[in-house]
Amino acid sequence: MEVFLSDWLNLVLRWGHMIAGIGWIGTSFYFIGLDVSLRRRAGAREGVDGSAWEVHGGGFYHVEKYSVAPKELPEDLIWFKWEAYITWVTGFALLVVQYYFNASTYLIDPGVADLAPWQAIAISVTSLAVGWLLYDGLCRSPVGRHTVALGLATFVLILAASFLFTQIFSGRGALIHVGAFVGTIMAVNVFMIIIPGQKKVADALMRGEEPDPRHGAVAKQRSVHNTYLTLPVLLMMVSQHYPMLTGHPHAWILVGLILVAGALVRHGFVRHEAGDALGKFAWAPAVAAVGFAVALVMTAPTTDLTKDPALAALEVSDAEAEDIVATHCANCHSANPAHEGFDDPPKDIAFDSLDEIRRYGGLIQQQAVASDTMPLGNETGMTEEDRRRLGAWLIKQRGE
Ligand code: HEC
Repeated sequence: MEVFLSDWLNLVLRWGHMIAGIGWIGTSFYFIGLDVSLRRRAGAREGVDGSAWEVHGGGFYHVEKYSVAPKELPEDLIWFKWEAYITWVTGFALLVVQYYFNASTYLIDPGVADLAPWQAIAISVTSLAVGWLLYDGLCRSPVGRHTVALGLATFVLILAASFLFTQIFSGRGALIHVGAFVGTIMAVNVFMIIIPGQKKVADALMRGEEPDPRHGAVAKQRSVHNTYLTLPVLLMMVSQHYPMLTGHPHAWILVGLILVAGALVRHGFVRHEAGDALGKFAWAPAVAAVGFAVALVMTAPTTDLTKDPALAALEVSDAEAEDIVATHCANCHSANPAHEGFDDPPKDIAFDSLDEIRRYGGLIQQQAVASDTMPLGNETGMTEEDRRRLGAWLIKQRGE
């Protein structure tokens, strides 16, 4: 019952996280694209910096941007903030339900660092807070006055955090923390900088005072950062489905490539939205593709196990293969899992018989032979030799 309820809590939080996240990313991309597409037009009203014409959903829109602000604000001004807050709150709750409640299964890998659950959780929470403080400190420091230098410094900060996470957490725990680290920076940007700054501008207008243009400039800078960070974060959040990322010994370098590729895709996307000719921004997706190609080469299997003569020569009996799987997998992957926290076999994959083990041979190869993604956190202490022998047996099965 407990597992059943926590599965539903997980589902509701994940769905809520996706709904709010899609809303947030949508408005973020929309407004940054709008900003880039604004044109100064003759006869514009006083205080209007630029305007854009858009067509969508059966009508035409004429949007004008005032910066710093119009002389007066309407009563029904629309704010965009809840999407960001709800994305963070549901995301953090999901981190708690999935990774903190089951820290020894999902977050900790004793082969990386033999932490107690409370230690792993304390490191996790601290890292998110410290990440924000460092990023915010960079933005406020002299580095923050140079766009390129600040971009580079933020890149190095995220890369350093990624490296540290891979030295502390399990493969999937590390990459989900890169996502949480960057996502926290983005959400706190909205909560502590962008919205308070805009509130100050609005309050000054209400009092009939001249608003300070600095607030608008800072909010714009942080909003631009947020759009650049969005796409890499999305990939980090689904990275646990890809053992070639989470199981890579230098996963932090892959994070670097994903940061670069994601930022460049964002650049191309926004420029396209703003109506630029393809020739002007085509370089961005092209360089992103190079980054992806490097990741592809980095993650390519080093040896084709099926062609390894040493493996093919190993004699592994059915009984031994069944025994390896029973020892290292079937406490979770069984019709009735003995492992706490599971009522049903994960992903509905059970290895209770040789036939089932054969049926999932390709997946077993991917998860436990070519990578050490399974068993989760290597809880059962599966050795390289176990993996080789299981791999050798799987090759024979395919040969038959
Ligand atoms: C501690 C429990 C546990 C153990 C032990 C375990 N697994 Fe898993 N396995 C899981 C969970 C949980 C998932 C679902 C992961 C997810 O949600 O991404 C999973 C997913 C899988 C998948 C599906 C991957 C996919 O997404 O397509 C395969 C295949 C798999 N495990 C194989 C194995 C093998 C082989 C072993 C033994 C060498 C093993 N597992 C040991 C918990 C476990």
